[in-house]
Amino acid sequence: MAYSIAVLPGDGIGPEVIREARRVLDHVAEISHLELRFTSHLVGGSAIAAGLPPLPPETIAAAIAADAVLLGAVGDPSFDHLPPGSRPESGLLALRRDLGVFANLRPAKAWSGLEDSGPLKPAVLAGTDMVVVRELLGGLYYGEPREWNRATDQSINTMRYSRAEVDRVARVAFQLARGRRRRVVSVDKANVLETSQLWRAVVNDVAKDFPDVQLSHEYVDACAMKLACAPASFDVLLTENLFGDILSDEAGAICGSLGLLPSASLGAGPGLFEPVHGSAPSIAGRNQANPSGAILSAAMMLRSGLQQPSAADVIERAVAETLADGFRTADIASPGARVSSTIEFADAVVARLRA
Ligand code: IPM
Ligand code: MN
Repeated sequence: MAYSIAVLPGDGIGPEVIREARRVLDHVAEISHLELRFTSHLVGGSAIAAGLPPLPPETIAAAIAADAVLLGAVGDPSFDHLPPGSRPESGLLALRRDLGVFANLRPAKAWSGLEDSGPLKPAVLAGTDMVVVRELLGGLYYGEPREWNRATDQSINTMRYSRAEVDRVARVAFQLARGRRRRVVSVDKANVLETSQLWRAVVNDVAKDFPDVQLSHEYVDACAMKLACAPASFDVLLTENLFGDILSDEAGAICGSLGLLPSASLGAGPGLFEPVHGSAPSIAGRNQANPSGAILSAAMMLRSGLQQPSAADVIERAVAETLADGFRTADIASPGARVSSTIEFADAVVARLRA
């Protein structure tokens, strides 16, 4: 089978982690008899620096034409002074919108060998294995009107959801739960927000089509606390765009490091696969970043984007073995432990790939 993959390395540590993910993909393609054709394109700060808009027309055209899109990270503090619509991040938001990827899956789990790497007591973290399903195209990120009125110094953003937007992402969460432990926790702020009241009503309606899946609701504040106190109680966590942005960082941190978290953003067309971590400008270009999030995003691309689950398994097993064998990038190393560079860690993953 041959697939075309649009690679968007982006900003900061994006290019160096994506380089390693590509190297892993090249090896897996050989093992699994797949043909992966890569093309590379600018997005975010890297596009702005080249005199282009944050999402150049050439990039979005290539993304739409590809079988899947693999992205590194977007964000560059040297463009912080620009208005929201011109910043690097707006390129990522436009890419998500133009690809129509409304469901963002962010799996977070306790890795064996990493029990002591995170902030939680190992006994609290034990057994944690969840997927955050984040609605990706609605809510405050895209709602109109939005503005900062400089004359009055008043500002507004709009939280907006329609029944159809909630319904389609809820179905993804329930379907996903069917292949797991059959539990969905839907997270909202229905004690205060009308958008959350609609959210809860629609999720309850969708649940009727999935009588085999157990649904419960949590307020977002209580959920943030429960993630820290009882993370193993979650299976599928379904929530709106901004709540999902926040809770997925928390889910990553409690499991050891945000650097480990991959994501898949799915819609009707090609999927978008990207690590959850940002561009981490302070360590960019230093061969220090954890490439696991990018490598595991490549695995999600094989599974959910290209329907090649066994090739995805090959990568995930190799990453698990690399961690279990004690390889540690700086973000997950205990004091005094030997620290692997980005490239050394990926070398160890490549060495553990086998069919
Ligand atoms: C993420 C990031 C993005 C978001 C930023 C870079 C726009 O934080 O993917 O979680 O807020 O969605
Ligand atoms: Mn985020």
